[in-house]
Amino acid sequence: MTDPKTGSSRRDFLSLVGLGAVSGAAALTLPYGSAAHAAAAPSCAAPTGKLKSGAGSFNSPIAFKGDSGPLRTRKSMSKLTSAELKKLDAAYKAMRALPASDPRSFANQANIHCWFCGMGEQIHGSYRFFPWHRAYLYFHEKILGALINDPSFALPYWDWANDRAIPAGYRSGNLLNSTRDSACNSGSKTLTDQLVGKAALSRPLGGIATAAFVGDETHGGNLEFGPHGGVHIWAGGDMSQLDTAGRDPLFYGHHNNIDRYWAQWIGSGGGRANPSSSAWLNTSWKFYGPDEKWYVIKVSDVVNYQTTLKQTWNHDPGPEESPEQLYHSPGELEAGGGSSASELNFSDGANLDVNPRTYKASLTATHKKELANSGTPFTLRVQGIDVPTTDSVIVKLHAQDPSSNDGSSADRPQYVGYLAVVARSAGSMAHGGKLNTALDLVPAVRQTISSASDAQLTVVPSSIGGRKPSKITMSHQRIFGHSY
Ligand code: C2O
Repeated sequence: MTDPKTGSSRRDFLSLVGLGAVSGAAALTLPYGSAAHAAAAPSCAAPTGKLKSGAGSFNSPIAFKGDSGPLRTRKSMSKLTSAELKKLDAAYKAMRALPASDPRSFANQANIHCWFCGMGEQIHGSYRFFPWHRAYLYFHEKILGALINDPSFALPYWDWANDRAIPAGYRSGNLLNSTRDSACNSGSKTLTDQLVGKAALSRPLGGIATAAFVGDETHGGNLEFGPHGGVHIWAGGDMSQLDTAGRDPLFYGHHNNIDRYWAQWIGSGGGRANPSSSAWLNTSWKFYGPDEKWYVIKVSDVVNYQTTLKQTWNHDPGPEESPEQLYHSPGELEAGGGSSASELNFSDGANLDVNPRTYKASLTATHKKELANSGTPFTLRVQGIDVPTTDSVIVKLHAQDPSSNDGSSADRPQYVGYLAVVARSAGSMAHGGKLNTALDLVPAVRQTISSASDAQLTVVPSSIGGRKPSKITMSHQRIFGHSY
């Protein structure tokens, strides 16, 4: 049983390419993820469900042919007018009022996410992450609009880099979810710079490697395993566990913002591009539409979102707005940069615990040359990350400074980025599996490493919201740098 899209196939893949040997089983469990959210896992049945008579069935869905409605401009939640807020609340009220048997109901919308986080198929931890969530939000938004008879209805986004507290619109009426951290829900707790500040965002957004931003078949990108995860964990409650996250209306605002960053990353140029493989472009999923018919939609149907989905964002200027100016100017990326002959292998000597740990790698002259040539992406791969499905973990990565700790500034060329793994489920092991991620080493970091005699990478277990990790359970199989 090797579904190419499940976590278990990633393990098989790793063994296949000889990366299966566990060297350093590293142990790191966090207080902030741990049993904080004891909610029973959703039932997560396959989303099939009722149909209007004569509509395409789940087993023979209609091919999605593009949206024919007006352009929908998505705005920041904190910029909605009171009339827009009222409409939004009315739409969620109508969705919540639908019977559970209806695939458009709020309960079913939540279960769709659960099904696609490992119960049926796994769309996290790979290049499926961005397009699947874009398609999911598209149908979610169209259903909400249809329920209030407004074809121009646009889902708001939570612009968390600028609005560090949960915007008021998500904290009352039909958009409230009372399982969130109570301080988040009162509006008194704000997201920290370490999670969504300029440095935290500049690492994923300033990078140029497709595998490190969008991800690839076996690796999730660093926006997913960075700020995306950090915000989930920070919000607490249903949001802090992937199988229940869709039960919180905040989830859709968070992912709308993630979708906006995907569009922004591509739009910032400098050679940034989506994967071009037909394996990615032809990947498809089924969703139930606002007209109560089943559709099948492909990745290639969502990449040109303005024309095919008729959606756009009013890109509010923010501190994160110009990633290309932070690290790479447009045109700097060299076409066809070759991949390195030799990987930069960090030795995995010992387990991770709550203390920072430094991994070392010998730098050859070739590595130094590759690191210095910032026109060709140089990515850091962390493979075989193993975290209990009930736990969330955040670790920061610093280069060339073994004394790095949780308080070390991110505004320095030693800061590589951070990894945030969101708890997957309190219940089923179907949500498990090892994870792989790639980070883009941005030029400032590359210079720092290339001028040293040995490469050093310090992994720092991080606290969140002032709470220190007391125990961490996280192992990985391999960390290496690679030029391509
Ligand atoms: Cu499907 Cu933010 O997770």
